[in-house]
Amino acid sequence: MNQILNNVETAQHQALLFLLNYLKQKDYHFTAITPLSHQRILDRNKNIKDITLRDIFGWNLAFAETDLESSLFTILKENQLIHFQEGYWFSNVRVASLEDQLFIHSSFPTVQQNAVFFGPDTYRFVYHLKQYLSDKPQPFKRGLELCCGTSAAAISMAKHYPDFNEIMVADLNPKALSYSKINASFADLNNITPVYSNLFSNIEGRFDLIFANPPYLIDADQRQYRHGGNMLDGNELSFNIVKQGMQRLNPLGCLFLYTGVAIRPNGNPFLEELKKLLTPYSNIKWSYEEIDPDVFGEELEQPAYQHIERIALVLVMLEMKS
Ligand SMILES: C[S@@+](CC[C@H](N)C(=O)[O-])C[C@H]1O[C@@H](n2cnc3c(N)ncnc32)[C@H](O)[C@@H]1O
Repeated sequence: MNQILNNVETAQHQALLFLLNYLKQKDYHFTAITPLSHQRILDRNKNIKDITLRDIFGWNLAFAETDLESSLFTILKENQLIHFQEGYWFSNVRVASLEDQLFIHSSFPTVQQNAVFFGPDTYRFVYHLKQYLSDKPQPFKRGLELCCGTSAAAISMAKHYPDFNEIMVADLNPKALSYSKINASFADLNNITPVYSNLFSNIEGRFDLIFANPPYLIDADQRQYRHGGNMLDGNELSFNIVKQGMQRLNPLGCLFLYTGVAIRPNGNPFLEELKKLLTPYSNIKWSYEEIDPDVFGEELEQPAYQHIERIALVLVMLEMKS
């Protein structure tokens, strides 16, 4: 049984690599936006005549068999990567671009518990991580991306910083690890190692660089890619990444956390807990920086956010002095 499942998975990997290579040849680019903006664009485009590859694999619009080259259509159909519904075909995956790379991620809408996320946070995370690393002189040899999703950040780091011997990428979602494997293989990287792990639970050793964009919302459906835990107004995972990560840094190692913080009218419990955790350590230099005062404003309508006045995007950065 396991062998049959492995064969299906291997065949799907090959089919997805075929798709990525096909799209690359066609100079495909697509920027993944928020689900609300995505839906607004879908609501506009009810009767499109000339369906493009971006319509099918970016917007996930309905298409006809004749809208795809027959070799691509056949391989996607044979590997259950498209499905037929009410007279039309739909892709079961999306493809997003970041810089000159392409990434497989989950189809729209991302309502499944195991949806693999790629969106505006991914672009911001990678941008700020690169800015952060731009003035770090030392070469990083061993890296770890926690909560990796598609591994877009790890792949981008591996491309920009060839000194890495290894970047481990960890997630609780097997589908995220499977997409990470395909995305790394498509990027022609053999130093990305996907690991099934609840934060550090299955990860051995210490690192020169740990980076993460974890879930940070209080999600009513507790979806893995969105729900940041019940404590600290959705910042339980973020706090645990810092708490456990500081024990896993090599001398001069760095931890870079990109996250969203729910701010109360009378304070910021996440920041208060960070101060309590980190202030006693004289060998750790750390900073907390707000980069956007107000994101996910629509969440403030949810019952779980009635005591919150805004959600801010922040960077938490730690460096071991020696
Ligand atoms: C918001 S997505 C971010 C994905 C990726 N870092 C990016 O920037 O595109 C968060 C990811 O964290 C994973 N995750 C949630 N809880 C986790 C945990 N306890 N340990 C490891 N990964 C976790 C989810 O499965 C999801 O892939």
